[in-house]
Amino acid sequence: MARVLVTRYIPENGYQTLCDHFGANAVDLYNEDAPIPRETLLARVKDVEGVVALLTERIDDAFLDAAGDQLRIVANMAVGYDNVDVEACTKRGVLVTNTPGVLTDTTADLAWTLILGAARRVGESERFLRDGKWQYWSPTLALGVDVYQQTLGIYGMGRIGQAVARRAKGFDMRVIYHNRNRLDAETEAACGATYVDMPTLLAESDVLSLHCPLTPETRHAFGTAEFDAMKNSAVFVNTTRGPVVDEAALASALHKGKIFAAGLDVFEEEPRVHPDLLTCERAFLQPHVGSATRATRGKMAQIAADNLVAVLSGKPPLTCVNEAVLKP
Ligand code: DGY
Repeated sequence: MARVLVTRYIPENGYQTLCDHFGANAVDLYNEDAPIPRETLLARVKDVEGVVALLTERIDDAFLDAAGDQLRIVANMAVGYDNVDVEACTKRGVLVTNTPGVLTDTTADLAWTLILGAARRVGESERFLRDGKWQYWSPTLALGVDVYQQTLGIYGMGRIGQAVARRAKGFDMRVIYHNRNRLDAETEAACGATYVDMPTLLAESDVLSLHCPLTPETRHAFGTAEFDAMKNSAVFVNTTRGPVVDEAALASALHKGKIFAAGLDVFEEEPRVHPDLLTCERAFLQPHVGSATRATRGKMAQIAADNLVAVLSGKPPLTCVNEAVLKP
């Protein structure tokens, strides 16, 4: 009987670690490159002790009921865990782990891809070229906005926000940030970043990049009022979670020219993208690929598998979201 469930095909090293430890027969792999249907998930989670889950799976009371009391760990293969009802897991003594650290730089690189791509109208220009519309060099073709020596604003200054800030040194930018808590002076100096309040962040950022987790406090933190308060020349970037932004308000701000452009890797109802964003040339859109490099996805799969092996071997996990479960 399976002891663990892996809810999707994951990089081989992670799966292999589980098989080496538990034996292939004890590892139930949903071996598809698409999300496991809810019904299938609820059926296959029954009686397992550990699950490697992805951000596409909702881990809630119904899931925990279907699993049974023997479930000990949900190892989420993502740093974000807004798909998991952590409180419900904690109440039942189920550990929740995530994959922090290993995807920081890869995600920061993608944020910069979006910053530059949106500022320089890269998606729009490529469509223009591929559509055979390019006839001659023009002094007014695809005019964007400069990034170098401008002000980069960061909302949410955790690991990824800090990595994005550090990269801004190469562009000779001023960096300002807003965060729940102000960073210590040493970390601020290492990032070259200055703490500001929210109105200042909105008013002074030439590029505004989001790096906060999705929580009840950050849901729709950016809507009409925030876009109205930004510069008309601003570039807005989101690589964290879609629901931090009111997508309809963002699409409207772009269409009305209230901001210059947006680079988005995440959406409110993935994989659905608001139709008004799809028709917006100034929206540079990617399908949630912030951490998508071969090396990084391999590391994420490895941490998830190592967490699961550790916990089911009676050892503490490498990373843990609800440490209360570990306390006697
Ligand atoms: C995460 O890890 O939370 C990302 O969104 C996927 O890498």
